[in-house]
Amino acid sequence: MGETLDTLQKRFDDFKSMDLKLNMQRGQPSNQNFDLSNDMLTIVNEDTLETPSGVDLRNYPGGVAGLPEARELFSEMLGVKASEMIVGNNASLELMASTLKWAMLKGLKNSDAPWFNQSPKMIVTIPGYDRHFKLLEVIGYELVPVPITENGPDMDQVEALAAKDPSVKGIFFVPTYSNPTGDSISDDAVRRLVSMKTAASDFTIFADDAYIVHHLSDEPVKTMNLLRAAEEAGNPDRVVLFGSTSKITFAGAGIGFMASSEANVAYLTKLMGFQTIGPNKIEQYRHVRFLKSYPGGISGLMTKHRAILTPKFTAVQDALENELGGTGLATWTNPKGGYFVSLDTDRPVADRVVALAKEAGVALTPAGAPFPGGVDPNNRNIRLSPSRPPVEEVKQAMEIDAVCVKLASAEYDAQ
Ligand SMILES: Cc1ncc(COP(=O)(O)O)c(C=O)c1O
Repeated sequence: MGETLDTLQKRFDDFKSMDLKLNMQRGQPSNQNFDLSNDMLTIVNEDTLETPSGVDLRNYPGGVAGLPEARELFSEMLGVKASEMIVGNNASLELMASTLKWAMLKGLKNSDAPWFNQSPKMIVTIPGYDRHFKLLEVIGYELVPVPITENGPDMDQVEALAAKDPSVKGIFFVPTYSNPTGDSISDDAVRRLVSMKTAASDFTIFADDAYIVHHLSDEPVKTMNLLRAAEEAGNPDRVVLFGSTSKITFAGAGIGFMASSEANVAYLTKLMGFQTIGPNKIEQYRHVRFLKSYPGGISGLMTKHRAILTPKFTAVQDALENELGGTGLATWTNPKGGYFVSLDTDRPVADRVVALAKEAGVALTPAGAPFPGGVDPNNRNIRLSPSRPPVEEVKQAMEIDAVCVKLASAEYDAQ
């Protein structure tokens, strides 16, 4: 309240003298989260070398689309049929990369030609996930950013872009608890996406549902199923869904998966079959045995994750409210799920806040990371990731971050 530049500088210097090393940058689970899944390490052994469907875990045969048992299990999570699933190895990003690369080289099922010589453009939502942007760019897609709103992608802009330009080949976004804002797509936006007129006959909705079961409140968000909605709209091949267990079991040894129409699955698995005889069956079967036997299944496990994560998200909200509430210096999201909080400064000082925080010993996601090319045109957005550090560190780091917002804003006003 009424803090001057001098008093803020003094608070900042006091933090600096504490010589802290805090990290609010990594959207990773904590070791406590990982510990919940340690039973997975021994759940497959010499007695479980053949699955109930008769697949030998140690040999090649079994199919590119993954173990039948794994397709069944993860199909329930995405709300689709097992026959619509492709279950892969530990990164959903790898499946995204594969799909995007094959689209470039060969086109998708309904394409007249490969995409590489069509100057393909991809709509992305901002602020968004930096790895999506970098992946799309390195493969050769031009990014067309549209804002994400509390109802998902800004559909007026998406419809206008898709309708007029045949080189706009699709949209890539996170439908549930988006990274970093926590926003989820509304039913109305789903209906508009799956039924809109598109200049490209092979326009595709790439929906990365990485946080579909990662609820943090008693009001779990259940977004409308894009695949079913597309089918009902008469565009059954328009949607490709992705998901993974990176933030359910182990981030470095989970399972990535995807879902689409059976026709798309047939088309894509044929191409993927040139890259691999099949995914890691032992890892898939570990997940099947562990997640099916966990009390309450996947949602039972997610309740345990929530108990670990909620105090950290609460600490973020409390610190921001204590320091910045009513100041007009920043707004921030209070997500009902996912892994991130998105903060917007009122003044264009995001890069200065991140630099100050670093000086005071708090690593934040680089300013601009949630935007294509790593540049936030307004220099206002900061992504906060409280999942990895212990709650006491989150409290400390957030107080420092909030003071950095105040100091950077005061510096800006004094210019
Ligand atoms: C939206 C989103 N998708 C995908 C990932 C990474 O998924 P995976 O580990 O399955 O490649 C992340 C990780 O932060 C993410 O935020």
